[in-house]
Amino acid sequence: MRILGIETSCDESAVCLIDAQGGFADGFKFSILGNALISQTEIHAKYGGVFPNLAKREHAKNLVPVLERALYEAGALNEKPSDISHYSEKLQKILERESELYERLSVFLQKYGLPEIDAIAVTVGPGLEPSLWVGINFARALALVWNMPIVAVNHMEGHCVLSMMSISGFRKSRYRDFVNPDIKGSVGKFEFPVLALLISGGHTELVLSKEFQKYEILGATRDDAVGEAYDKVARLMGLPYPGGPEISRLADKARTSYEMSSHRITLPRPMLHDDNLDFSFAGLKTAVRRIVEANCPLTDEMKLDIALEFEEAVADVLVGKTIKAIDEYSAKTLVVGGGVSANSNIRTRLAEALTEAGLPPPLVTPPALSTDNALMIALVGYFRAQNRDFVNPDTLKADGNLRLI
Ligand code: KG4
Ligand code: ZN
Repeated sequence: MRILGIETSCDESAVCLIDAQGGFADGFKFSILGNALISQTEIHAKYGGVFPNLAKREHAKNLVPVLERALYEAGALNEKPSDISHYSEKLQKILERESELYERLSVFLQKYGLPEIDAIAVTVGPGLEPSLWVGINFARALALVWNMPIVAVNHMEGHCVLSMMSISGFRKSRYRDFVNPDIKGSVGKFEFPVLALLISGGHTELVLSKEFQKYEILGATRDDAVGEAYDKVARLMGLPYPGGPEISRLADKARTSYEMSSHRITLPRPMLHDDNLDFSFAGLKTAVRRIVEANCPLTDEMKLDIALEFEEAVADVLVGKTIKAIDEYSAKTLVVGGGVSANSNIRTRLAEALTEAGLPPPLVTPPALSTDNALMIALVGYFRAQNRDFVNPDTLKADGNLRLI
């Protein structure tokens, strides 16, 4: 089955076409036929975070070129144009709030016809609603003209399911804006119950999955998400957005350039010893703010100190709560997903803690696939399409706060 995944929940416009076969527990295999992504991070960098209406506009500009690129890569561009004359009114209605997308899509559809696909999978939440709507309306428009079923996908499930995959053939992109891997994959070897630690710019959650695609949220952040804390702390330190990779780079430098025992600052480990599985990162950010204000302007050495201590504090809390959840729920496998799971120190610390607990290393994706992409949406889309879990395009809605169930 060929699934076209569409992801626009935050500031990445991404489309991925996969070919997949088999059931999750029954010989599942997939390969990427075409994958394209345009990241808006540079555009949002000057605002220090994602600016929702700008993100929406950029998605409207990017989606057609990204679709064309993914289909081109897959050899799936059908040069026989679609006749959109009898759809034009409905198409216009679907895209009435995205006039630029309407213009671009009309040109595309008059150039290319129906590609060989079986369903369209689109992220419907959680995320920024203006961004989600662009992807949803794009999916609805394509589904109308191509007469395709639509599958609605939860973005966090995407991160989780992608991390469950064993992936081969990944190579770094030659293109700056396009991740262009030649990936094949299957389900990794692991046992349920699975505990998923989902850590991104918008979420920090511990999720129990006793069987595939059934979820129970055990704990979540009460304020900032961990990626958000990275981004805000980076901003306080005058580092560019997104802050995660920047802080991580400084912390790695600090680790290799001097003994960790020479710490000059100490940050709190919020809620680490509380008797629950929730998180809180706002206090950590406030503690950094105080240090920055008291030491203004920050020296390079001070920046290294803060980055290192911040990253250690985050890792202590994530590891502590994860191990607590594993013990309480007798989880046999840890899955880590979301943009922050690209962080090498967090990966190492979790792996060490699991070894100590007598468990196998955590399941994670190659770091370049930890941040948002459309492969993860296509994968979840495939499993839902197999169950014929299609949605009515006319009632499809963005849900910024969509929860895993
Ligand atoms: O999953 P994602 O791409 O988007 C959301 O769904 O939110 O996650 C983005 C977040 C950003 O906050 C970014 O700073 C963080 O992931 N991030 C990292 C690293 N790479 C990205 N955080 C820590 N270390 C990294 N290497
Ligand atoms: Zn994400």
